[in-house]
Amino acid sequence: MSEAQPESGEPVPVPVVEPRTMRDVLGHFASGVTVVTAMTDDGPIGFTCQSFSSLSLDPPLVVFAPARTSSTWPRLRDIGRFCVNVLAEDQTDLSTTFARSGADKFAGVHWRPSRHGSPVLDDVVAWIDCRLWAEYDGGDHTLVAASVLDLGADPGRRPLLFHRGAYGLLDHPRGR
Ligand SMILES: Cc1cc2nc3c(=O)[nH]c(=O)nc-3n(C[C@H](O)[C@H](O)[C@H](O)COP(=O)(O)O)c2cc1C
Repeated sequence: MSEAQPESGEPVPVPVVEPRTMRDVLGHFASGVTVVTAMTDDGPIGFTCQSFSSLSLDPPLVVFAPARTSSTWPRLRDIGRFCVNVLAEDQTDLSTTFARSGADKFAGVHWRPSRHGSPVLDDVVAWIDCRLWAEYDGGDHTLVAASVLDLGADPGRRPLLFHRGAYGLLDHPRGR
């Protein structure tokens, strides 16, 4: 139990939540899986990211959270333009590939450049072409807000899901 100092000066106990408990409980929140990509002078780069969400319609903003340990995010930040690729149900391999730090993640991966030059992976459910808007302190992650430059979707494709540490499929009539 640690303490916080309110104005009254009286120490207020702050419960300590174990990272394992956070991961286990928050893993019950099912999400999609994205790969955030960008084009550098040395070729395309990217990383797998589950902490993605829409933020604002006007202005059009989205958010995602790279870990402070990510070696890809600092390079994406420097470029300032990137594409969020929403993976489809048959793209678990892409998710795993782009989660491997240091690997040549684009080896054998098919993609096309967006209007703003960022890699759009083939056969994704949706893609959101972005420009960096702002970064906020997020503890052991950074909260990134990005403005949407262009986007598109393929309604005929079903999304890949992630739930309690495992990949899952959408079993919903609309997804058929
Ligand atoms: C399903 C899945 C979801 C992930 N979500 C995130 C995330 O939201 N933020 C993050 O920083 N890393 C996330 N990762 C881990 C990164 O993909 C991985 O640490 C990163 O690719 C490491 O490579 P880098 O050093 O090139 O950044 C996720 C991995 C998987 C498999």
